[in-house]
Amino acid sequence: MNTFRLDGKTAIVSGGARGIGAAHCRVLVENGARVIVADVLHEDGEALAAALGDQALFVPLDVTDRDQWGACVQAALDFGHGTLDILVNNAGINVPAALEEMRPEIWDRVLNVNLTGHFNGIQAVVTAMRRQGSGSIVNTSSITAVVPPTLLAPYVAAKMAIVGLTQIAALELGKYGIRVNALQPGYTDTPMMAGGDESAIAGGLPIPRYGKPEEVADMMLYLVTRASYTTGSVLPVDGGAVAGAGFALLDSSN
Ligand SMILES: NC(=O)c1ccc[n+]([C@@H]2O[C@H](COP(=O)([O-])OP(=O)(O)OC[C@H]3O[C@@H](n4cnc5c(N)ncnc54)[C@H](O)[C@@H]3O)[C@@H](O)[C@H]2O)c1
Repeated sequence: MNTFRLDGKTAIVSGGARGIGAAHCRVLVENGARVIVADVLHEDGEALAAALGDQALFVPLDVTDRDQWGACVQAALDFGHGTLDILVNNAGINVPAALEEMRPEIWDRVLNVNLTGHFNGIQAVVTAMRRQGSGSIVNTSSITAVVPPTLLAPYVAAKMAIVGLTQIAALELGKYGIRVNALQPGYTDTPMMAGGDESAIAGGLPIPRYGKPEEVADMMLYLVTRASYTTGSVLPVDGGAVAGAGFALLDSSN
């Protein structure tokens, strides 16, 4: 028996057009769910939904826009014959800059997309999930929330705050049968990591390579299916990047 099946369930994946989001969409459809591919990238999103077939629908969504979230949830309910079971808050951007030089617009934009975008998503789905008495929300943090690199102040601030948002949402929504968890991906091979030197960045990890988007998506699939006693948790998918990170720093300074 396939215990990860999602037949009859409906999911929204924000930032679903490419990268990790596209892998989330694929694994959800492969396991029987109907999926809303929600993104600002219309062409990529349409192409992915077409490739996934009848079980997928592209809906334009800028996660900073609450009205668009409302339309997206309505589209999901229509597509899913009244059900909305899963939200994967995945959309994110990364704009590296030193604090001293960072334009305030960059700070605002990264916080708005990465953090407020998650909050908007949770608020948008909660009424439908509450009505049906069940739901699973998966947020997207990052290993940078545990081991912060330089030049990523708003990105790291958002990813740390997503841990708190996940925990509060789990506490407040548990009574409605809604579970809320977060993924904590490490270096993952997506357009966001394009241009980096994989062996220099990931060669020293216990698993010495970038992760694949599908490996993050498999953890999401576990969270929305089998993880029935897991809420308010943050699950790493990082090739061991966080394990021993502090000691690696000590070693290099000795
Ligand atoms: N790639 C990594 O190494 C890594 C590591 C840790 C966490 N993450 C997180 O995983 C998530 C996915 O990242 P990825 O690597 O696939 O990046 P990506 O850039 O390949 O994909 C991000 C997606 O989000 C969409 N997006 C951006 N702004 C949006 C907005 N305002 N509204 C709707 N969609 C929007 C983009 O169009 C894109 O499709 C992000 O939250 C990212 O922070 C990635």
